[in-house]
Amino acid sequence: MANQLCIVLDFGGQYNQLIARRVRECGVYCEIKRFDTPIDEIKAMKPMGIIFTGGPNSVYDESSPHIAKAIFELGIPILGICYGCQLMAYTLGGTVSPCDISEYGMTDTYYDKDCVLFGAVDDLPQKATSWMSHTDFISQVPEGFTVAAHTDNCPTAAMYNKGKKLYAVQFHPEVSHTAGGLGMLDSFLKNVCGFSGDWKMDNFIENTVAELREKIGDKKVILGLSGGVDSSVAAGLLSRAVGKQLTCVFVDQGLMRKGEGDFVEETFTKMFDMNFIRVNAKEHFLEKLKGVTDPEKKRKIIGAEFINVFWDEVRKDDELGFFAQGTIYPDRIESGKGNKAGEGSSDVIKTHHNTVIPEDMLDKFAGVIEPLADLFKDEVRAVGEKLGIPHELVWRQPFPGPGLGVRIIGEITEEKIKILQEADAVFRDEIRKSGIESELKQFFAVLPDVHTVGVMGDHRTYDHLIAIRAITTDDFMTADWARIPYDILARVSNRLCNEVEHVNRVVYDITSKPPGTVEWE
Ligand code: XMP
Repeated sequence: MANQLCIVLDFGGQYNQLIARRVRECGVYCEIKRFDTPIDEIKAMKPMGIIFTGGPNSVYDESSPHIAKAIFELGIPILGICYGCQLMAYTLGGTVSPCDISEYGMTDTYYDKDCVLFGAVDDLPQKATSWMSHTDFISQVPEGFTVAAHTDNCPTAAMYNKGKKLYAVQFHPEVSHTAGGLGMLDSFLKNVCGFSGDWKMDNFIENTVAELREKIGDKKVILGLSGGVDSSVAAGLLSRAVGKQLTCVFVDQGLMRKGEGDFVEETFTKMFDMNFIRVNAKEHFLEKLKGVTDPEKKRKIIGAEFINVFWDEVRKDDELGFFAQGTIYPDRIESGKGNKAGEGSSDVIKTHHNTVIPEDMLDKFAGVIEPLADLFKDEVRAVGEKLGIPHELVWRQPFPGPGLGVRIIGEITEEKIKILQEADAVFRDEIRKSGIESELKQFFAVLPDVHTVGVMGDHRTYDHLIAIRAITTDDFMTADWARIPYDILARVSNRLCNEVEHVNRVVYDITSKPPGTVEWE
């Protein structure tokens, strides 16, 4: 059965993916489309509801994204959020004016509970907090609309036209600071649009496995497994769908964390029905990286050799079948941010964002399979848990493609890899024991290629400095260094100097991003 579909029309605001996530939390399948997607295309997708997102613009800017009035005449319920709210008012003949006092952040909001958006949210009082971010406001609603909420400075915090099923809120219901916000979205989806709200991960697994079986038939499938969350979950799904028709190729470049290569191999050979090939290519990579110190060069070599080694393995088979990869939804969508109305008319999709082999090699396969292409990261994790993939893999922190290669400054040598693997393992062990692991988004050790003088027993040492890095972040675009308690840092430092050979000094990286990056190079 086809999914009931909600379309999130993207006008470039910063919370667009969050809106889509919230819609799915309500058990409704949704897809994000650019604001300038042709109306006929939207109509052909047969959505049961449309949500206009916020955006950074003012409706009166010539360059700001606009929408044809015809969208309001399709009979499809629409919810406008923030800029989307103002756009609805403006397009339908209302007036939008600059605020005397802009509202930003938590704002006391007064709701009319006669409006189903608010009336259906049981625990929403008439006065509650909403999250605002606007410098324009609706000074006059279009004909046929009723004001359904206001604040002390904004007379139209929400408006609706019940007969036409058009609803709009100036605030952001998708942000957790808006009391009852999820309930408002849920009410729009269920009470206004009529969604049944039964889109679930269980259905996803069942449907996807059936679709994969049909598409693959009796052909073979090759998947490049990195040990990261996405490729692991894709492997789990494909294994359930076609078992031994699947071959996972795991290229171990020798730059994984301590014990990680063995863990990946053990998980996929013992727990899943598939062919698993581990290519131990450490020597090959070390040879290629010999004497190279420039960070960009190192990255390029690691990337290129990864493809070479993978392809050398894959082409041994003369019947290639399908090529599978763990592309996820955020890899595919491109926000409308900064795009001007009329620039391009359909989704710009980065189809092969995660592709590990170049496009001309892809042509040699029967086709590409991306079983996670419609899912967000946390949904991928939920699928992984349901498939029984170990917690450690499903909740793995991001680990860069070039592995420890981006954490070893200067030339990469076997000795340096060993020191860093040991140091990283000690740091991770201590963080795990300290109970603060869940507060950190990423933490790791770095080998900066700096030697310093120290003293051990009666001996002078001249050995490696280890840097440790731990960050908190929402999206990895910006990050702050984690305020790890001193006593934990002290234990880490002691253990690193005592337990890891050739380490005699430890520093903690207290640089946020920007100006720093998460990784050191
Ligand atoms: P930066 O260092 O750019 O890192 O602040 C942001 C996030 O991206 C990860 N990262 C990578 N991930 N391939 C990846 O798959 C890479 O080449 C790469 N470089 C950095 C980094 O670990 C952090 O989570």
